Amino acid sequence: MNIFPTILIIANILFFFSKISSAIDTITQSQPLHDGSTLVSKDGTFELGFFNLGNSKNRYVGIWYKNIPNRRVVWVANRDNPTKDNSSKLIISRDGNLVLLNQNQTLIWSTKTTTRVAISSPIVQLLDNGNLVLKNEKQDNTDENENFLWQGFDYPCDTVLPGMKMGWDRKTGLNRNLVAWKNWDDPSSSDFTSALVRTPNPESFIWKGSTIIYRTGPWTGPRSSGIVGLTTNPFYGYEFVNNEDELYYMFTLKNNYVTIVVLNETSSTRIRLNWVSDSNSWKNYLILPQDNCDNYNICGKNGLCTLNDSPICQCLDGFKPKSPQQWSATDWKQGCVRNGNWSCGVKDRDGFKKIVGMKLPDTTHSWIDEKMTLKDCKEKCLKNCSCSAYSSLESTGTGNGCSIWFGDLVDLRVSASGQDLYIRTDSSDTGDKNGKMKKVVLAVSIPVSVVLVMLLAFIYIHKTKAKYKKKTTRSEEKEEDKYEDFELPIFDQATILKATNNFSFDNKLGEGGFGPVYKGTLLDGQEIAVKRLSRSSGQGLKEFKNEVILCAKLQHRNLVKVVGCCIEGGEKMLVYEYMSNKSLDSFLFDFGMARMCGGDQIEGTTEKIVGTYGYMAPEYAFDGLFSIKSDVFSFGVLLLEIISGKKNRGHSYQEHDHNLIGYAWRLWKEGIPLNLIDDCLRNSCIDSEAVRCIQIALLCLQHHPDDRPNMTTVVVMLSSENTLPKPKEPGFLIKKFSGDGQSSSTNEITISLIDAR
Ligand SMILES: *[C@@H]1O[C@H](CO)[C@@H](O)[C@H](O)[C@H]1NC(C)=O
Ligand SMILES: *[C@@H]1O[C@H](CO)[C@@H](O)[C@H](O)[C@H]1NC(C)=O
Ligand SMILES: *[C@@H]1O[C@H](CO)[C@@H](O)[C@H](O)[C@H]1NC(C)=O
Ligand SMILES: *[C@@H]1O[C@H](CO)[C@@H](O)[C@H](O)[C@H]1NC(C)=O
Ligand SMILES: *[C@@H]1O[C@H](CO)[C@@H](O)[C@H](O)[C@H]1NC(C)=O
Repeated sequence: MNIFPTILIIANILFFFSKISSAIDTITQSQPLHDGSTLVSKDGTFELGFFNLGNSKNRYVGIWYKNIPNRRVVWVANRDNPTKDNSSKLIISRDGNLVLLNQNQTLIWSTKTTTRVAISSPIVQLLDNGNLVLKNEKQDNTDENENFLWQGFDYPCDTVLPGMKMGWDRKTGLNRNLVAWKNWDDPSSSDFTSALVRTPNPESFIWKGSTIIYRTGPWTGPRSSGIVGLTTNPFYGYEFVNNEDELYYMFTLKNNYVTIVVLNETSSTRIRLNWVSDSNSWKNYLILPQDNCDNYNICGKNGLCTLNDSPICQCLDGFKPKSPQQWSATDWKQGCVRNGNWSCGVKDRDGFKKIVGMKLPDTTHSWIDEKMTLKDCKEKCLKNCSCSAYSSLESTGTGNGCSIWFGDLVDLRVSASGQDLYIRTDSSDTGDKNGKMKKVVLAVSIPVSVVLVMLLAFIYIHKTKAKYKKKTTRSEEKEEDKYEDFELPIFDQATILKATNNFSFDNKLGEGGFGPVYKGTLLDGQEIAVKRLSRSSGQGLKEFKNEVILCAKLQHRNLVKVVGCCIEGGEKMLVYEYMSNKSLDSFLFDFGMARMCGGDQIEGTTEKIVGTYGYMAPEYAFDGLFSIKSDVFSFGVLLLEIISGKKNRGHSYQEHDHNLIGYAWRLWKEGIPLNLIDDCLRNSCIDSEAVRCIQIALLCLQHHPDDRPNMTTVVVMLSSENTLPKPKEPGFLIKKFSGDGQSSSTNEITISLIDAR
């Protein structure tokens, strides 16, 4: 971040240089360049000369930034054909080419231009942008990049300089691409390459040999859809040109910064490097691939990669793993296949699901139209049974244009800077609702993975709460609008009554924080869980809406998803997706609904306290003081419950332990924390990791909120192996809470305090 102001402004140096310049920037027929001499561009930025690397005897001709120490070569003429002696020279041959001759006049390298036009007086000049050009002496330099007889920028090596066109000259068939060096001391061509590919909707790829490593995603407006979160920056801008003559991208400098892009085989990456004068070094600015989800097609065909999901690969809605047994990190490549429900052209069995923020799929098998509207695009897709998805062409502005994909969708990932993708599935057209991912696998094998999932959920909730809090400061009307915006389906009471068999006792699943929960089946067969809010729950209409919005926003696969609500006849009901299998929620005793979607909790000044007894921090339960650290406490309880497989309350603990926290604390003090671990986890977890989790839980459970780590620290603790602090005595929730509590039918006791302060 703070490298912006410290980037070397080369102008200073240039100014310096101009005073002492006696260097030449041209080679003429009468003035060759011998090994030992160099060319320097007019403004002194670039230098061309002979060099060798490391202990290698190989000698090359190349270009580097003159005033940047530890010479970084940005272009090499004879990368695959070095000279072995140090008395070679660059001359302009009689036929007007620039050639490199060794000691005994053997031709090592040549510009090999095929121009037959008679050149009166050819010269070679090193330009201020690092381009080495062959031209007529009289040719005007303002004609940069155009009409040179030959130019180095047409033959890039591993480095992109500002102003270099990367891509195709459609008239000549010239393709300017990147080929990495074999090693830091060997500039010869490796098999690690990158190029702009002429798919119907062009995008850049990186290969190792013939295997695709990464692709940027198509250029949709100002940048490609696949580069996550990249926003405008003060250094450079991109230009993308696609017309009948040319197809290329080019970056241009915004200021006198020094920034380049390098393809590096050793690290298997394409890196943007910025020269930082303060540290006198090149600093990585953007590295591609950026993360796991960037690995080409990591989730296989029709699989979607979501970085914050666990596992990161899921099948698209309407698809299932091709080989479910192998659906794991080692073999997601198998991908997903249609679950058999979709039938092309059949009414109600043919529609689209919209997924927001997507890196668009591999465009190899696609089709585009620049003028079509999104609506026509959809129609076009519906008409062809091999069409599997569509999107608008432009990510910004009008959102016009049409892009259509055929067959399997390849290399899908969620991307902050991506765009909406409409995927063909069997459900009826779900229009503008956010797409949701099917839960295909449940990965609750080791505590760490579960913990991380919960952690992400917590962090997400905090963010959502914070965001929502800002919104609630607006007027009530605005809030109403917000609510409307959500397009959460409203169910009518009759539908709910029918689905739950008039809230029959048999359909009752249990009792949550706010009231009973019933199982139901909608007419179309979808199974739902209906939370019927008790009128005495203290939850007003506002809180109800908050909960609806909060829950609707939570798209995490391990949280119960809200599919709708019902406000009718004085009843307030939330309709959730029913999770039949052992979901994390049931694993966690259906905790999720009550606590996660707790209500309108405002840090510090709690107006109403709602929550599930047993997870509340002591300061929250007794004093009504709610802070971010109260959630950390709840997280600690959860963590202990996951590890031990026991509830904090409702389990028969030994008299002196009171509850799970007490029990865990005693085992910790006695030095036998491993006794806490659930038998069913015992074999699948690593002892040291489990103990670490217990210690982290105890740190979260410390009595004083200030002692507890914040969630960011918890993330660091979980993902590193640093020594952890010693936990202090936890806050116990010992005795029955003597507040205004309401107890429900199950042994989950809930409380509801009004105006605690
Ligand atoms: C060539 O390089 C060697 C070693 O660097 C040096 O000793 C020798 O003098 C050089 N010869 C010429 C002609 O520059
Ligand atoms: C070039 O000169 C070297 C000695 O510098 C000699 O060994 C080699 O055989 C010569 N090559 C040709 C093609 O004459
Ligand atoms: C590639 O990156 C490695 C570090 O990951 C670095 O040591 C090496 O010099 C780089 N190679 C080139 C050719 O820049
Ligand atoms: C379609 O999927 C549903 C579950 O979503 C299933 O109950 C039904 O049997 C499937 N229909 C066909 C024809 O496969
Ligand atoms: C559907 O699209 C594919 C791929 O472009 C094409 O080959 C095929 O002819 C199209 N079918 C129809 C019926 O238009």
